[in-house]
Amino acid sequence: MAKQASVLSETRTADAMLRARASRVVPGGMWGHLNAARLPEGYPQFFASAEGCRVRDVDGREYIDFMCSWGPVLLGHRHPEVEAAARAQADLGDCLNGPGEVMVDLAEDFVAMLPHADWAMFQKNGADATTSCVTIARAGTGKRKVLVAKGSYHGALPWCSPSVAGVTTEDRAHLLHFEYNDVASLHAAVDQAGNDLAAILVTAFRHDMARDLELPTAEFAAAAREACDGAGAALIIDEVRAGLRLDITGSWEALGVRPDLCAWSKAIANGHALAAVTGSDRFRDAATKVFVTGSFWCGTVAMAAARATLRIAQKSDVPAHLRAMGLRLREGMTLLADRHGIAIRQSGPPQMPTILFEDDADGAKGARFVQEALHRGVYLHPKHNMFLSLAHTAADIDAALSVTDEAFKIVARL
Ligand SMILES: Cc1ncc(COP(=O)(O)O)c(C=O)c1O
Repeated sequence: MAKQASVLSETRTADAMLRARASRVVPGGMWGHLNAARLPEGYPQFFASAEGCRVRDVDGREYIDFMCSWGPVLLGHRHPEVEAAARAQADLGDCLNGPGEVMVDLAEDFVAMLPHADWAMFQKNGADATTSCVTIARAGTGKRKVLVAKGSYHGALPWCSPSVAGVTTEDRAHLLHFEYNDVASLHAAVDQAGNDLAAILVTAFRHDMARDLELPTAEFAAAAREACDGAGAALIIDEVRAGLRLDITGSWEALGVRPDLCAWSKAIANGHALAAVTGSDRFRDAATKVFVTGSFWCGTVAMAAARATLRIAQKSDVPAHLRAMGLRLREGMTLLADRHGIAIRQSGPPQMPTILFEDDADGAKGARFVQEALHRGVYLHPKHNMFLSLAHTAADIDAALSVTDEAFKIVARL
């Protein structure tokens, strides 16, 4: 039985000891956004296990998990059917001299599921997929300029990293920027690219950190499609974060806009390392010509896990469940915020919510809120969008809301 969060608050030692060891042998103790120093005081750095919608830290504290490993966990941690498929494949071999039959099966699954796709190829990380899409678009068009929205995240490689440390201006020489959902700024960037436009690369919705999330408007999506058609460029949708949570046939299907190329990762194998590029026949030759590969890109286990994940996602209408749970959370938060006289802003699709506080320029309210929730066994993020999973039940959401009630009581006194 996991220990209660509050009991251990003063005695958490395993995490502290691991941090001390890590600080000697891992730069900064942990790299990138996963460094717990970027979160409010009290967040664990190290985790021990997870199941369903619960994660446990190395000190045995259990939390209802609203980060889902920052997206990959779609069906719940260690989903039995996915893990059984992965284990069965692991018994045959994961890292072979080339792909297994499962790669063709999985490509067929993707092509059958996605109206825009005539082919699929596989990688490991989201940045492998976004980079491959950009490379394929350039190979297919013979053009160089790629338009990206200001502040959008597409990975941590030099061409797209949010940091400039170690990055040269040449790495980003052919990137041009527009404002998400702003058709005029998109047109201005298209004009700036002139006759050298290779692609517009756009996330499925605007999910920049520490600001309200925005769904794409129909006008913006249509303008992106038209601009690409007009210039012979590729429309690339980066589905790495949103993929399978909004619409398993593609996040822009409801807007009637289909991409030429799509980058996938995170949720597609429910926590196993896998990314995919899907594309239309227009870019098949280009995708054949580019040299893209990775030592582990053929790993069969993650592909078997992905097949099971896609099967379940289709069978269970995962987006509908996530949406229902997200709405329950959102409506409960609104009621509680009103009751405590707290002004919050909730944005984004309910499946991937962000909760920000009004009058919170220094982030103190948001930080205190998530800290109080954490002490009571609910793992939230103060600034980043969160993630629901198929494993979250109404009872889990209600448990998180009763913790929210207590946490809001404290925030209201700040
Ligand atoms: C929209 C988007 N694109 C690309 C990436 C990069 O994925 P990865 O970290 O797996 O390289 C991410 C990661 O969060 C993402 O959210």
